Amino acid sequence: MLVLGIETSCDETSAALVADGKTVLSNIIANQLELHRKYGGVVPEIAARRHTELIGYVINEALDAGDKSLRDVEAVAVTAKQGLVGSLLVGVAAAKTLSYSLKVPLVGVHHIEGHIFANLLSNPEIPLPHVCLTVSGGHTLLVYVRDYCQYELLGGTVDDAAGEAFDKIAKFLDLGFPGGPVIDRLAVQGDRKAFAFPRPLLKAKTFYFSFSGLKTSVINAFKGQLASGETLPLEDIAASFQEAVVDVLLVKTLRAARQREVSAISVTGGVSANRRLREVFADAGNREGIEVYFPALSMCTDNAAMIAAAGHARLIRGQANDLSLDVIPNVPLEVQHVG
Ligand code: KG4
Ligand code: ZN
Repeated sequence: MLVLGIETSCDETSAALVADGKTVLSNIIANQLELHRKYGGVVPEIAARRHTELIGYVINEALDAGDKSLRDVEAVAVTAKQGLVGSLLVGVAAAKTLSYSLKVPLVGVHHIEGHIFANLLSNPEIPLPHVCLTVSGGHTLLVYVRDYCQYELLGGTVDDAAGEAFDKIAKFLDLGFPGGPVIDRLAVQGDRKAFAFPRPLLKAKTFYFSFSGLKTSVINAFKGQLASGETLPLEDIAASFQEAVVDVLLVKTLRAARQREVSAISVTGGVSANRRLREVFADAGNREGIEVYFPALSMCTDNAAMIAAAGHARLIRGQANDLSLDVIPNVPLEVQHVG
C-alpha cells in the first residue's frame, strides 16, 4: 500500500511516500528555521502561514522524488494530534482534500506515534516489546511499546521538554536556534565536569522528568561567571549542561527497561541526534546487555515518512478516519491495554 504522509505539526512542512509501511520512496522536508531564528523559537502564527505556502509544493516534490503520481496514492496519513493548532490544521485540510478527491482512506496519526515509527523505519529489527524514549523540542516521553500501536505511558516531563531546555539555554547564551545542534557542537570541546549542574528527579523512582530547574541553574552559573569578570567557558557550560540532561535521560530509561524486563531501548525525536546522548546510551546498552536503537539522522527530527509508516500500521488494523477528522493540539498518546 502506497501511503502519502503529511506532517505539519510544528515548523517543518513535510510530505513523504512510503510503500507498505517500510520502504521510503521520498521524504521531503521544508524547514522554516530562517523565519523563526530571529525570535529564538517557533512563532505559531508564522509557522501556520508558511505551511499554507509550502504544503502544495512539498506534496508535489514528494510525488516527483518518488516517481509517482497522485493516481498511485492508496491512502493519506496526516499528523492530527499533538502540535500547534494552526499548523496541524493546514496538514489535515490538505490530507482530507486529497483523501476525498482521490477516494482513498484517510488516517490521523499522533505525532509521538510518528516518532516511535521513525525508529522502526530505520531499524525494522527492533524487537517488541521495548521501551521508547521520545526526546524532542516538544516532548520527553517514556513509553512501553508492547506491540505496534499498543502503548503504555510510563512518564514524561513535568515542565520543559529536553529539546526545549537546549533551545532556551542556547537562546539565553545567544547561540542561535535551534539550540540542540549548536550545544552538541560546542560541547565536544568542553569539560563535562566543569559545572556540577543538578540532575532533577534523578533519584525519584517515577519516570517523570523536569528540566526547568536545570535550565535556571545553567543561567545562574552563566550570570555568576559574568559578574565575577571571568572568561566565559561556553564550551564547558554546554558540555556540563548536556551531560546533566543525558544522565537523567539515561538513568530513567534504563530503569524503565529493567522494570519492564525488555531487551531493547529505542531513542527517537530531535534530541536523539545528539552525539553525546548516542555515545552514553550505546555504552550503557553494551554494559547492561540491552540493545539501543537510534533512527537515521534524517529521521530524528520531524518528517512525514514516520507519519506515513505509523498511518500504515493503523490502516492495516482497520483504523481509518472519516472526513470528520479534527486536530487535537494536546492529547496523550492513545493507550491500548490488551489481555
Ligand atoms: O523532533 P523535533 O524535530 O521537533 C519536535 O517534535 O519538537 O525536535 C526538535 C528539537 C529541538 O529542540 C532541537 O534543539 C533538538 O530537537 N535537537 C537536538 C539536536 N538536534 C536537534 N538536541 C540536542 N542535540 C542535537 N544534536
Ligand atoms: Zn517531533
